Amino acid sequence: MTHRIAVIPGDGIGIEVIAEAVRVLEWVGGVELHHLPWSAEHYLATGQTIPPDGYDTLRSFDAVLVGALGDPRVPDNRHARDILLGTRFELDLYVNQRPVRLLDERLCPLKGRTRDEVDFVVFRENTEGLYVGIGGRFKPGTDDEVAVQEEINTFKGVNRIVRHAFAFARSRGLRRVCMADKSNAMTHGHALWQRVFDEVRAEYADVEASHLYIDALSMFLVQDPGRFDVIVTNNLFGDIITDIGGALQGGLGMAASGNIHPGRTSMFEPVHGSAPPLAGKNVANPIGAILSVALMLETLGRVDDATRVERAVASAVQANEVTADIGGHLGTRDAGEAVVRRLL
Ligand code: NAD
Ligand code: IPM
Ligand code: MN
Repeated sequence: MTHRIAVIPGDGIGIEVIAEAVRVLEWVGGVELHHLPWSAEHYLATGQTIPPDGYDTLRSFDAVLVGALGDPRVPDNRHARDILLGTRFELDLYVNQRPVRLLDERLCPLKGRTRDEVDFVVFRENTEGLYVGIGGRFKPGTDDEVAVQEEINTFKGVNRIVRHAFAFARSRGLRRVCMADKSNAMTHGHALWQRVFDEVRAEYADVEASHLYIDALSMFLVQDPGRFDVIVTNNLFGDIITDIGGALQGGLGMAASGNIHPGRTSMFEPVHGSAPPLAGKNVANPIGAILSVALMLETLGRVDDATRVERAVASAVQANEVTADIGGHLGTRDAGEAVVRRLL
């Protein structure tokens, strides 16, 4: 079976890490890859962030693989808004699945943590919250400026992500689901999260459901990450805590993610951005991108291929055949090669 995959390397280190992820994907096989040039470079050259039929083009693929979008030459981040956030919204990719898994104890910045203590998954709501872009600026640039950015929480949106988190926990035999919000301060929007969480948890008596305010959850992520199996939270909080999750795995370069609508074309990308200071230097860690390929294969139903890629990555990490950010001495390309060699 061949899957058709759209590949958008994007900007900065996105280009370098995707080259390695693509090499892994080609070794695994069973894919037909189509590169799309959408990026800051393309926008600056053509004035177009994404073509008018861009989202339809993406929908025609089985999955999409993205590097990163962000370039100092596009200060308003317009192209990232259209390409990345636009795809999340237009393809209704409501599940942002961000696994946090420590591959070697030496990589964890916390003292004495074992691999099984840092092994959980964050489900970030990915289609609403503070990201919807509703709001505006009144009298901008003056001392009277008023800036409004609305947070949208809908029953449909909250219900589907909370249900997804519980269903995932049950299907994987994971014991605990923790929902994090800020319902003590955001007494309207997050009251909806409370209501939905209470309704859904009642249907999952086999899963241990708990709630933490997002500030306390951030503290526990650092102090006692072993208490988590599945975390579900809103768009912005999920964005922030998954950078902490990246750090727990050794650094942002390790973290993978999927933007998923179950059963439909979904988009996979490392959690990190384009890291302009590192771009073009062959130093970026490709593992987050490669593990995003594994998550893509798993989501496409190719669990054996996904496991093969994950094992190759874990073996390269354990042999310290990795980039300098996680203590190795290899460049991006050789670190990719170290994974590819282990797929044979
Ligand atoms: P960033 O994730 O690009 O980088 C922050 C720091 O993390 C880097 O300076 C580097 O020290 C480290 N890092 C990240 N990825 C790494 C890797 N693969 N290997 C080694 N070290 C790595 O975040 P930023 O600097 O805040 O953002 C840079 C640009 O990227 C901005 O334009 C931002 O909007 C964009 N961005 C895009 C995405 C995305 O496309 N999904 C995600 C985050 C940020
Ligand atoms: C991420 C990124 C994006 C987000 C940015 C680039 C808009 O930080 O994917 O985590 O906030 O979702
Ligand atoms: Mn982020």
